[in-house]
Amino acid sequence: MILRNIKGTKDLLPNDTKKWQWIESNIHKIMCSYGYGEIRTPIFENTELFIRGIGDATDIVSKEMYSWIDQGNKKLTLRPELTAPVVRSYIQHNMQSLGPITRLYYIDSLFRRERPQAGRQRQFHQYGIEAIGSEFPEQDAEVISIAYNIYKFFGIKELSVRINSIGGISIRDKYLKLLKSSLEKYKTYLSPVSQKRLDGNALRLFDSKNKEDQKILNENAPFIFDHISDEDLIHFNTLIKILKKMNIPFYHDKKLVRGLDYYTRTTFEITSNKLGAQDALCGGGRYDKLIEQLGGKKTPAMGFAAGIERLLMIIDNAKIQHSQNMNIYISILGEKIIPQAMNIINDLRKLNNISIITETNRRSLKAQMREANRQKSKYVIIIGENEINNNYVIIKNMENSEQFEVLINKLEKFFIEKIN
Ligand code: HAM
Repeated sequence: MILRNIKGTKDLLPNDTKKWQWIESNIHKIMCSYGYGEIRTPIFENTELFIRGIGDATDIVSKEMYSWIDQGNKKLTLRPELTAPVVRSYIQHNMQSLGPITRLYYIDSLFRRERPQAGRQRQFHQYGIEAIGSEFPEQDAEVISIAYNIYKFFGIKELSVRINSIGGISIRDKYLKLLKSSLEKYKTYLSPVSQKRLDGNALRLFDSKNKEDQKILNENAPFIFDHISDEDLIHFNTLIKILKKMNIPFYHDKKLVRGLDYYTRTTFEITSNKLGAQDALCGGGRYDKLIEQLGGKKTPAMGFAAGIERLLMIIDNAKIQHSQNMNIYISILGEKIIPQAMNIINDLRKLNNISIITETNRRSLKAQMREANRQKSKYVIIIGENEINNNYVIIKNMENSEQFEVLINKLEKFFIEKIN
């Protein structure tokens, strides 16, 4: 029986990884241009980090985590998101001491046991940022604009930026009481999951995908935005003012509460109608209480994360620029001269911007030429016994079939001139 990859995971083959490398290298450049530094945290953490960070009433924690108990009786979990691990690392390494604002970004893989479908996997990848240390709306605007500008850079058009404010913690209890009382009389019509949520963390009712639940919520649930404090409203209005000035088109969606518990004030999502059912390209918001909640000092923060698979689904492949390296094929003819030939090739590898592919299958010259064509090589270097004995190699230009001899000690110079 042939073993296959796990449902909801994907192998990325060389043709795919070329695209990934191009996307990732551009994200590194863009993040660097905004002054963000890359952080890489371990792929698994203590389960407690996610329970405390994301909230145990959330879909992620209640049903989607890959968790296990290891041989030392430790409860561990494959990270389902990166905000909590980044905050854990921020606190652990006392990054606060490095300056008032810490700007971090990541490109990494995550794990959620969701039902796989187009744009939804069980192992998926995100790039994202966490800007830790500023409470002001200009920080929110910077984060939202980075998310938006990355899509613009990749040529993604029909984008919809939705933003909202769910206010600070101080208004949460009062609002939840109101929400619960407004929905109590419809409780029996709600799905069993939503009925449970109504008794627990009622904000999570908005995560329900059930049509009947959504109808009841649409018709009867008060918006949290209508209950935020005056300070929250000033923060939101200032953010809106900045975004308008920055020419970032957005829509105020009062229903946008996001599916993780750590958010306070600003929430946002960017969607694309080209994506289908899973239309969220990225999402994020402010989480001013998370750092204290995980044992750090009171520190405001704002961030977002974006699905790379979803970006790849809508990016125009023509935009993706592949490596421009000159491709050279090394044809070795004769078993005896293999060591010398390998040595010549090794010397050539000092050169930049070339890809050198060596024949390691001892095939006929004809077969090797066919391979060079398949590899789209620009030149073939033919190394045979006679050539080695006389200190030269034959070079064939595959574009015009011209063939000429070059002395081995002039080989490097020959290609330096061709590359430049
Ligand atoms: P999230 O909304 O759970 O937020 O995920 C962000 C993005 O990751 C989504 O918009 C989507 O593009 C992608 N994504 C999520 N789940 C999957 C999946 N199963 N398959 C493929 N792509 C997926 C967070 O993760 C927060 N940590 C964002 C954040 C950062 N908030 C503040 N800072």
